[in-house]
Amino acid sequence: MRWIDNAVFYQIYPQSFKDSNGDGIGDIQGIISKLEYIKETGFNAIWINPCFDSPFMDAGYDVANFYKVAPRYGTNEDLRMLFEKAHSMDMYILLDLVPGHTSYMHPWFKESMKQEKNEYSDRYIWTDYVGRDTTTVEGVTGWLRGICDRNGSCAVNYYASQPALNYGFAEITDKENHWQMKPNEQGPRKNVDEMKKIMSFWLDMGCDGFRVDMAGSLVKNDYGQEETIKIWQDINGYIHKKYPNAVTISEWGEPTRSLRGEFDADFLLSFGPSHYMDLFRNANMLDFESNTNYFSKTGKGDLTEFKKAYMLFYEQAKNGGVICIPSGNHDLPRMTAYMDEEDIKLAFLFLFTMPGVPFIYYGDEIAMKYIHSIPSKEGGYYRTGARTPMQWDNSLNAGFSSSREAELYLPIDEDQNRPNVKQQMNDENSVYNTVKKLISLRKSQNCLGNKADFEFVDVSELRYPLAYIRSNENEKMLVVINPSSNYVECNIPKIGDVIFSIGEMFTNTGNNIKVAPCSGLVAKIVDYCYSGFEIYNQFKNI
Ligand code: GLC
Ligand code: CA
Repeated sequence: MRWIDNAVFYQIYPQSFKDSNGDGIGDIQGIISKLEYIKETGFNAIWINPCFDSPFMDAGYDVANFYKVAPRYGTNEDLRMLFEKAHSMDMYILLDLVPGHTSYMHPWFKESMKQEKNEYSDRYIWTDYVGRDTTTVEGVTGWLRGICDRNGSCAVNYYASQPALNYGFAEITDKENHWQMKPNEQGPRKNVDEMKKIMSFWLDMGCDGFRVDMAGSLVKNDYGQEETIKIWQDINGYIHKKYPNAVTISEWGEPTRSLRGEFDADFLLSFGPSHYMDLFRNANMLDFESNTNYFSKTGKGDLTEFKKAYMLFYEQAKNGGVICIPSGNHDLPRMTAYMDEEDIKLAFLFLFTMPGVPFIYYGDEIAMKYIHSIPSKEGGYYRTGARTPMQWDNSLNAGFSSSREAELYLPIDEDQNRPNVKQQMNDENSVYNTVKKLISLRKSQNCLGNKADFEFVDVSELRYPLAYIRSNENEKMLVVINPSSNYVECNIPKIGDVIFSIGEMFTNTGNNIKVAPCSGLVAKIVDYCYSGFEIYNQFKNI
């Protein structure tokens, strides 16, 4: 059994988690000081957003030195200490690897801008001539032109401050001008080797693996992503052999591809085919009014497409790997932008009873608000409102930092009633305590674990409730969640104890479970022979 099989993850945006030295910005010592809190809540693994040297044009996703912690977070020694401290508490730490691009301030890029050919010339994607028409390249988000005397345009992977590293082209579309390389040419191969080196560097220091940024973005004109998958088979194959306990998790959003690239796990995402947005947000992410997310009381949600996509991914995952459903992340408006606390508790009931690895974004466990009208910081734009400082208590700066208000990385939620950890810990019914109970439930019931079996109970054209079965060789459990404001009745013979419930109590009289509006339960199924299909026949709406 590998550690990821029991992992429950907490994601930390280091800028905003805990400031230990009063300069207004979160840091690694701050994270160390809160490991106890993270463990007590029930998490045993942490993913930290990039904490490397950077000009911070994209909050650190624009790396200027892959081997050095950014001074504002501390030193490499601090990171080593974090790994050690975490391990002594049976916890694991993932760093964030950005393989697809660097900062335009990276020394490799500065070298590649030079007119004279040198060993970095082919490490980025340059056309042969500054005026070359480059509009047809798949996987490039823009071009840098006229920034230096090298005669060429350079491909960008995300923002203009993030030139794309060259991993070659699956299909050469410009056959005449010889600037598109194949993945096995020298520049691309050197980038692959460099990534292995960077990963080894941090793994040798004690880190437990990586969340890999834009993992599907490496090879250009790679329409089915087969060439990118091959590169990951190479990198992940190498890493897993050298470090059998290391874990890599891709930001790809397409487990049918990423898991073939030998990632241990992949995320469901706001982009790609996973229909993740149908769960806790809205198909149109920035439409905060429409409430089409499944967990909203309006009952307008529809998980038909999500379920189809999920089952496809789930089948793929049976060959190895798992799927991660995140509560949110640093790129999405928080859950609170779309749902109230009652809805959010049911969303957590779902998150912690599904297979795969749960990921909770810092602050979601106390239902921190998404701050709508906040000025952009470090390339955040709409994302900035989900990146504000963690609210620990009601002392100065919500316990985040002892700095002057003006020096804070981002302003703290100004709401008088903003939630904080201390107050939520003391409230039996808080979102925090619901999360804590759910993690402990997941840990205590093997059949709710990351790798235990799963099937949706098909309730036909009824969109509510959501029901599924988790099982292993010894036990079966039924999860029923009804976030809508309507009653639903399920007639399921021989259901056993209800071991967890949210909302109004369920009546379990004879053959009936009455699912009240805004409620959910986890119950044991006594008779093992019941499969999803039989239960489906017994659902009816009242
Ligand atoms: C990923 C990150 C995002 C970043 C982008 C470019 O999507 O999650 O924050 O801006 O990649 O690196
Ligand atoms: Ca600090």
